Formats: sequence, C-alpha cells, structure tokens
Amino acid sequence: MSNKQDIINKLIDAYWKEIETVQNYIALSVNLDGIQAKEIKESLAADVDEELGHAKELAKRIKELGGTVPGSKSFQAEQSYLQTPQDTTNVLAVINGVLEAEEDAIKTYSEIIKLADGQDYVTQDLAIRLLADEESHREEFTSFLREFRK
Ligand SMILES: [Fe+2]
Ligand SMILES: [Fe+2]
Repeated sequence: MSNKQDIINKLIDAYWKEIETVQNYIALSVNLDGIQAKEIKESLAADVDEELGHAKELAKRIKELGGTVPGSKSFQAEQSYLQTPQDTTNVLAVINGVLEAEEDAIKTYSEIIKLADGQDYVTQDLAIRLLADEESHREEFTSFLREFRK
C-alpha cells in the first residue's frame, strides 16, 4: 500500500520532468535550423504549452494533497539527451531526444497510476489524462522518425 507522501513525492518528480521538458522544448523550438527542422520546431512549440499545462495541473494536485510545490532551488536537471545538438540541423538527434523524454513521462505517469490505484482516484485520473497526452506526443515524433528510416 502506498501512502499519500509517496504519491506527493512522485507528483513532484513528474512536475520537475515537465518543467525541464518545457525548458528544452522552448530551446529546441528556436535553435534548430533547416527545412527538415521546420515541422519539428512547430510541433515542439505547440507541445511547450501542453507540457506547461501538465506542470500546472501537477502543482495544483500536489497542493491539494497537502504537499508543497518546490521552488527552483531544488531543481536538478536530468535531460542530458535533450540538449541542442552542436549541429543545429541534426533533426534526427532531436527526434530521438524527444522520444526519450516522452518515454520517460509515460513511465512516470504509469507509475503514478499504479501508486494511486485504490487510494487516490483523482490523482489517478489526472495521471491517466497526462499519460494519454504523452502517448500522443510519442506517436507524433515516432511518425517523424519513420521519414528518416526510409
Ligand atoms: Fe507532459
Ligand atoms: Fe509530452
């Protein structure tokens, strides 16, 4: 049986992942160059708003459960795979990085769904909705990847 603190901690973990994803998607949505990058940049720019929305929903739920949303001093960056490549036309590297971030989000929300099962249906519902968004982001970038595998 998981307790409320485990759920809060996992929500905070998910919150930081969303914040870091927002940072890196903003950077990539402007830093990339070339014709092939155009679609990717537009897609990332749109996803920034969705991921920010996820962070806001997670923050609200952390507070509702009696937790405290942490400030930036406790932020620790983890997405080394999602940095702007030296070659800013290297769209393939970026697609792979985005897929890794989305997989990580999918894993996190799947864990929250299990953790909240039978205990906290509101958090579980939130995690299911966010999981659906992340799966759709993954599908979008998987479809970009198909073009490069031809
Ligand atoms: Fe997200
Ligand atoms: Fe996502």
